[in-house]
Amino acid sequence: MAIKMETRNQVPIRIVEDKVLRFSKGERISHWVHAISFFVLLFTGLGVLSTFFQPAMTILGGIHVARVIHRISALFFVVVVGLMFFIGNPRYHWRWIKFVFNFTKSDWQHVSAFPKEFFGGHGAYPEQEKYNGGEKINSLITIFGTVFITLSGIVMWWAPFFPVGLVRWAYPVHDLSMFLMTAAAIGHIYLGLLHPDSKAAMSGMLNGYVSKEFARAHHSAWYNRLKEEQKKSIKS
Ligand code: HEM
Repeated sequence: MAIKMETRNQVPIRIVEDKVLRFSKGERISHWVHAISFFVLLFTGLGVLSTFFQPAMTILGGIHVARVIHRISALFFVVVVGLMFFIGNPRYHWRWIKFVFNFTKSDWQHVSAFPKEFFGGHGAYPEQEKYNGGEKINSLITIFGTVFITLSGIVMWWAPFFPVGLVRWAYPVHDLSMFLMTAAAIGHIYLGLLHPDSKAAMSGMLNGYVSKEFARAHHSAWYNRLKEEQKKSIKS
């Protein structure tokens, strides 16, 4: 069921009945455009990278078509997602960047307790803000991976315009970024779809809202901050 976001004094009402707004529409669109284009890039890129994957390219019409699709999806991956930082309600995107580049002591504590959590146990860590240490690392891999894969991709696409030495470097940089992002994506997808505790986050990326229970259990510092902000904006 879609829930309409209300605002009061320009402040979005994030806690509605038993739900908490976690991601705006813009954030969800950019997440899914990035994720879908990433998988199209990965599939077509593997075909371009190795003859082992080339037979799979026949479902697209052959390696030449795969190459064209690879370049078109790269535009979605970079340009379309990049535009989301400037159109609609971009402040949510910028706030995400601000959050993930501010790695606190509590984030390190989360990261050191995370392996236990990942394998189904309960790690002991302090109250977490909107993004925990693990999510910040995933975000940083996504940001730096995207920057390196894009810059190296530009050099490979327009190779004649760049020095030979740079073009030679672009290939391993592109492949390494792809490996790192794929490894992070595998762990990330497991957490989003299958992990017994974390999969409750999925509704946040689908309709924007997570349950209050999830918010309290995983991000209580964030939940308590929103509650205070909302109380203040309703009073004023
Ligand atoms: C089927 C594929 C995917 C699923 C099911 C999925 C699911 C999710 C979910 C549920 C969240 C919200 C977590 C929260 O509430 O904090 C999220 C956030 C995020 N996703 Fe994905 N995602 C997928 C693919 C991807 C891919 C391919 C990338 C990167 C290329 C990506 C990058 C991110 C980032 C950076 C965040 C914010 C930080 C975080 O929560 O880890 N996602 N995703």
